[in-house]
Amino acid sequence: VATAFTELFHIRHPIALAPMGGSAGGALAAAVSNAGGLGLVGGGREDCDWITRELQLVTAATAATGRPWGIGFQAWSATEEAVALSLTFAPAAVMLSFGDPRRLAAPVADAGIPLIVQVTDRREAAHALELGAAVIVAQGLEAGGHSGGRATLPFVPAVVDLAGTTPVLAAGGIADGRGLAAALTLGAAGVLVGTRFQATPEALVSPQTAQAILDHRGEDTEKTRLFDIAGRRVTWPARYAARVLRNDFLEEWRGHEELLEADDDAKRRFREAVDAGDPSAAPIWASEAIDLIDTVVPAGELVERLVRSAHDAMAGAAHALDPGPTRA
Ligand SMILES: Cc1cc2nc3c(=O)[nH]c(=O)nc-3n(C[C@H](O)[C@H](O)[C@H](O)COP(=O)(O)O)c2cc1C
Repeated sequence: VATAFTELFHIRHPIALAPMGGSAGGALAAAVSNAGGLGLVGGGREDCDWITRELQLVTAATAATGRPWGIGFQAWSATEEAVALSLTFAPAAVMLSFGDPRRLAAPVADAGIPLIVQVTDRREAAHALELGAAVIVAQGLEAGGHSGGRATLPFVPAVVDLAGTTPVLAAGGIADGRGLAAALTLGAAGVLVGTRFQATPEALVSPQTAQAILDHRGEDTEKTRLFDIAGRRVTWPARYAARVLRNDFLEEWRGHEELLEADDDAKRRFREAVDAGDPSAAPIWASEAIDLIDTVVPAGELVERLVRSAHDAMAGAAHALDPGPTRA
């Protein structure tokens, strides 16, 4: 497949790894890039030691292949320092999500590095295009982790129509080749996949997190702000709720966001439970597409599988539209 996205980065497959904060490290990004996709390190926690370590890893692991990789940040919270640090490693792309990307876009543009902006509504898409984004990611609310209020299926073609010649990636609820085929059919130039890559040996997640993703189904996920309210980073913009696996903490506090906001004791207990790794409290961000995830697969092999099964899905769809010879 050749699309405006694969041509921009000189890559083989129209698949990007979502820059999942803390779990998409250098090894995972390198595995995706070395398999012909675009691996994006998740710099979301803005910890400079972590960024240095993981970017050293991805740089070393792609040195032999020369394959491109990038890094992503959350626009509402990322520090100028963290972005500047990442630029010293010469990424092929920088991605910004969630909030106004203007503040951090300038140093990226000055460094001549293509900017990828993830958007959750048409207004954000128009703004990203004005800003000169090289790639737009249209993210639907099926996504694991934070998202806005649009669904992937109608939102992606709407952004494709706005974007003109700028390539658009579809994100949110894509976990197999059928999703990749659907995204390309909607006019996207590729996909950005998050949750599916959590169930790979390269992801920086606990075995319990990977197992929970395998064991649960789409109905077990829910969008909520409760974990942002109770967590340390309380300033997450309210319009981005996060899709998570239901747990006891969510069941206890659902519908009582304002009470939780005011209850410092409950927030402290929540943080202690999270620090202790208590699964009844700690959030596991997960996509509605977890129905489609039932094995842990090495990330490079996953990229190959996505492409192969997308070919099959597209051939099947073309066949379904072809009426064939009519019966007498
Ligand atoms: C565990 C997890 C962490 C995430 N962290 C970030 C992040 O730090 N920055 C970001 O831009 N997107 C983040 N995302 C969202 C992804 O960029 C992407 O939109 C999403 O994973 C796509 O949907 P999917 O999970 O159905 O593939 C995260 C997603 C997950 C599942």
